[in-house]
Amino acid sequence: MKKISLIHGPNLNLTGSREPGIYGRDTLAAINEEVVLKCAQYGWECVCFQSNSEGALIDRIHAAIDDCDGIIINAGAYTHYSYAIRDAIAATRLPCVEVHMSNVHAREEFRHHSTISAVCAGVIAGFGKNSYLLAVDAMKGILG
Ligand code: DQA
Repeated sequence: MKKISLIHGPNLNLTGSREPGIYGRDTLAAINEEVVLKCAQYGWECVCFQSNSEGALIDRIHAAIDDCDGIIINAGAYTHYSYAIRDAIAATRLPCVEVHMSNVHAREEFRHHSTISAVCAGVIAGFGKNSYLLAVDAMKGILG
């Protein structure tokens, strides 16, 4: 059975109540549930993790190396400046899909750059919680 590591970065624990006009009203737990269900439809296991700490996110990315077949990550604001998370993703040599609920390119300029895109298979941004579900389909295209 294929296993996907779903990783959420800082402030995403507040999804549902944080800036709902941008990130929607679904809680992270509800989004995780939908992603887990969608993965199950493909016969995959999905394990979910959120942290506000860069080191914990890096440890979780490393943990996927011998345990998972792919990573779906919303690194939150770390996306825009964390070289350490970029290096961790590259080190796994696993397929990784970068996710953002908002359309980062339609927002402040600092959100236009991602340190991780170059080491990810692709990026899905702007579709709210559906960005995560689309990422599962993208992973299906990669893993088969
Ligand atoms: C985000 C976009 C980031 O710029 C922001 O810092 C987040 C969430 C998104 O899902 O749209 O925390 O990754």
